[in-house]
Amino acid sequence: MVIKEAKFLMSNTRVDLCPAPTKPEYAFIGRSNVGKSSLINMLTNQSKLAKTSASPGKTQLINHFLINDDWYLVDLPGYGYAKVSKTSRESWRKMINFYFQERENLTCVFLLIDSRHEPLQPDLDFVNQLGTIGVPFVLVFTKTDKQSNTKTDSNIAAFVRKLKETWDELPRIFRTSATKKAGRDEILEFIQEVNLQ
Ligand code: GTP
Ligand code: MG
Repeated sequence: MVIKEAKFLMSNTRVDLCPAPTKPEYAFIGRSNVGKSSLINMLTNQSKLAKTSASPGKTQLINHFLINDDWYLVDLPGYGYAKVSKTSRESWRKMINFYFQERENLTCVFLLIDSRHEPLQPDLDFVNQLGTIGVPFVLVFTKTDKQSNTKTDSNIAAFVRKLKETWDELPRIFRTSATKKAGRDEILEFIQEVNLQ
């Protein structure tokens, strides 16, 4: 798919204030600092479309972007940031759960996982949560430029082994590097295929 146009539409905390659910929607979620906003910028070829930051917790709201006037991309705030208070963690959980359950045009969730780490419990818990809610999702292992391919392979394999303990069907897996623009064609092709279904 060629991205001809990508524009920011709005940010908010409430699902009922999101754009009319008339177009397919793809949401990006994952631990704080995993690279959600960077991946959105890489996919859309716009370095400043989604706000990125070296310190975690940058994205706080549900951010809608309109692509080719045809589908929505959504940048969500991350989970697992230790410095967040219990109260804001709880309000994040409520907002995200509500979004996943109520957003009727949500077509697929991209769950981003940092490829540098061995399986982390918050990521495994989040996969289980998505599976339980029944939202279609895929996994994206980010920041593959940060270590050798062998290390990335072994971290992904370890994650898959963990998933197999609970799930019979495995989600589709992508690997990306925002700095090297790796994985871009595969993700855009996937979105195109799903949009045509
Ligand atoms: P929050 O909004 O805080 O949850 O973070 P986020 O998941 O949106 O992460 P963001 O895109 O802001 O990136 C966090 C940091 O990781 C930034 O310093 C990015 O430059 C860096 N980063 C993101 N993706 C990559 C990547 O593929 N490779 C490398 N080397 N750095 C990356
Ligand atoms: Mg972000």
